[in-house]
Amino acid sequence: MDLTGKTAIVTGGASGIGRGISLVLAGQGAGIVVADLNPQGAEAVAAEVAEFGRESMSIALDVTDPSSIDAVTEAVVGRFGKIDILVNNAGVAGAAGWDERQQANIDDWDYTYQVNLRGVVLMAEAVAPSMMEQRGGKIINIASIAGRQGSPTITHYNASKAGVISLTQGLAARLAPHNINVNAICPGLLWTPLWERLAARNRSADDQLAGLTERQVFEKRVADSIPLGREQTPEDIGKLAAFLASEDAHNITGQAINVDGGLRMN
Ligand SMILES: NC(=O)c1ccc[n+]([C@@H]2O[C@H](COP(=O)([O-])OP(=O)(O)OC[C@H]3O[C@@H](n4cnc5c(N)ncnc54)[C@H](O)[C@@H]3O)[C@@H](O)[C@H]2O)c1
Repeated sequence: MDLTGKTAIVTGGASGIGRGISLVLAGQGAGIVVADLNPQGAEAVAAEVAEFGRESMSIALDVTDPSSIDAVTEAVVGRFGKIDILVNNAGVAGAAGWDERQQANIDDWDYTYQVNLRGVVLMAEAVAPSMMEQRGGKIINIASIAGRQGSPTITHYNASKAGVISLTQGLAARLAPHNINVNAICPGLLWTPLWERLAARNRSADDQLAGLTERQVFEKRVADSIPLGREQTPEDIGKLAAFLASEDAHNITGQAINVDGGLRMN
């Protein structure tokens, strides 16, 4: 999984899974652009990447804003001369205050679509010309096991992630003639700020969870639903991302791979 000399953009790289992916890719030799709505967080992760002795850069990015995406793409090409790897990781579970609602409202539907699905399309389209020019590239979309099966409580999120899986197939077919591989990773249950908020939301709707901390709610869900009986970590996701970004995976495209301890087997 040698990524020496490669340049990777990780969206949403300031937190949770994106941070883990950034550090694993850097560990394999890639230079990392940590691009996030939260520029301070991005800067902190870029500093961690630099500790590996890799090139790193942090930059503010809003994947819902085409002009922000163009500015990031231009800045990365200006600094590194190319983009080899794009990890579309930025994601949300709703609009502001989503965790205080048991049912998604129209703002949750719109904002989740804009970040989780439209943001992935816009980012992929923005980096594709640079990848086409060098006749190769790797795009890795972070979907979710939530995209494998609908649910009554986070229907909008399920639909957005199912959309990412479908989009991955379409993009893979379209970009294959340019030697660009496009794959998705479906993470299972990871203890990140996103899941912490989900745990609080789940607890307020379920008497059986009353009195548990957010972490205990998460651990119960892991124990109740994961055959291998353990949570997944950002490093687990980073390791698959590193493989998919490497030449070892050059014949894999259009796939969505679960990293979930067996929670979903399809
Ligand atoms: N945590 C889990 O169990 C889990 C499981 C499956 C999939 N996922 C997916 O993994 C990805 C990362 O999730 P996480 O759990 O690390 O969440 P997180 O909330 O810890 O991190 C998400 C990051 O995305 C950034 N972001 C949000 N909106 C953005 C925007 N418009 N533009 C740029 N950056 C933006 C945030 O600032 C944050 O740094 C998401 O796509 C999420 O849907 C998470």
